[in-house]
Amino acid sequence: MPFPATRLRRLRRTETLRRMVRETRLSVDDLIMPLFVCPGEKVRREIGSMPGNYQMSVDTLAEECRAIADLGIPAVILFGLPERKDEVGSEGYHDHGIVQRAIPEIKERAPGLCVITDVCLCEYTSHGHCGVIKSGDVDNDATVDLLVREALSHVRAGADVVAPSDMMDGRIKAIRDALDREGHTHIPIMAYAAKFCSGFYGPFREAAESAPQFGDRRSYQMDPANGDEALREVALDLEEGADIVMVKPALAYLDVIRRVKDRFGVPVAAYNVSGEFSMIKAAARLGWIDEARIVDEVLTSIRRAGADLILTYFAKDIARKISRES
Ligand code: PBG
Repeated sequence: MPFPATRLRRLRRTETLRRMVRETRLSVDDLIMPLFVCPGEKVRREIGSMPGNYQMSVDTLAEECRAIADLGIPAVILFGLPERKDEVGSEGYHDHGIVQRAIPEIKERAPGLCVITDVCLCEYTSHGHCGVIKSGDVDNDATVDLLVREALSHVRAGADVVAPSDMMDGRIKAIRDALDREGHTHIPIMAYAAKFCSGFYGPFREAAESAPQFGDRRSYQMDPANGDEALREVALDLEEGADIVMVKPALAYLDVIRRVKDRFGVPVAAYNVSGEFSMIKAAARLGWIDEARIVDEVLTSIRRAGADLILTYFAKDIARKISRES
């Protein structure tokens, strides 16, 4: 029925009515908080380009995880900063690596918290690339072997979910097979399936000290122009055994999130990445935007696009806001 019988403004008149017909809601259940763990004791070093985020030593991180769990946030994802970096990122897959040491401490202080680990080598390699370099490029198959070792060592240390973020071909199958062979058939894989080669990772590379020392990641991360290819990446990761697929970054790729959700109907995660976080923080500091309002709008848009889970540095802020309102 056209106007004047239909007046869509009728249901917008009061907050009560708006609340009743609201289609999308943020829930604390959907949030995953990224954390950076570094060597040392009692370390809590703020990341310049990511205000309110810290590189934390294992002890500080474990306390932080308890606070996160107390806010009702179900999961964290861990990124490790090693003591020493080398050509092959060996601290990434050693059983005494920083992430491997952090997991049991977290489990002790926050037993119910779901600990997801980022499986990649860029934080651990001296050249900052996500794998082993051969003839000036990342060698796919040699890298997959190391990623398998890294994932296994995380799971042996107690990780609940592993999340490979390297974008090597075939790594999901290799990791799934290795986990199953070792009896970890119950451990899910959250695949960074459609990970684009994005300028929005800038602040993260300061946080994780993982900027590539030469070249860029275009030979393994996806071209930002490609939506169809993102669906192929997701299809392959699902065939290889991914349980949750991720689109990353989120905001410039909302169309991809929607297509993935519509096409596959599987649990979809979206990574609201460091640059998306820092842009909001910076504009808010300049007084140009209302931070709380924008954060709510942005995260709601990611849910509306079809993401079930959101990895976001705003997780604690949103969790606090949700608990104030309920
Ligand atoms: C590691 C990895 C990156 C991010 C998550 N895992 C960086 C990169 O690919 O350069 C970025 C996360 C963020 O920007 O918040 N490969």
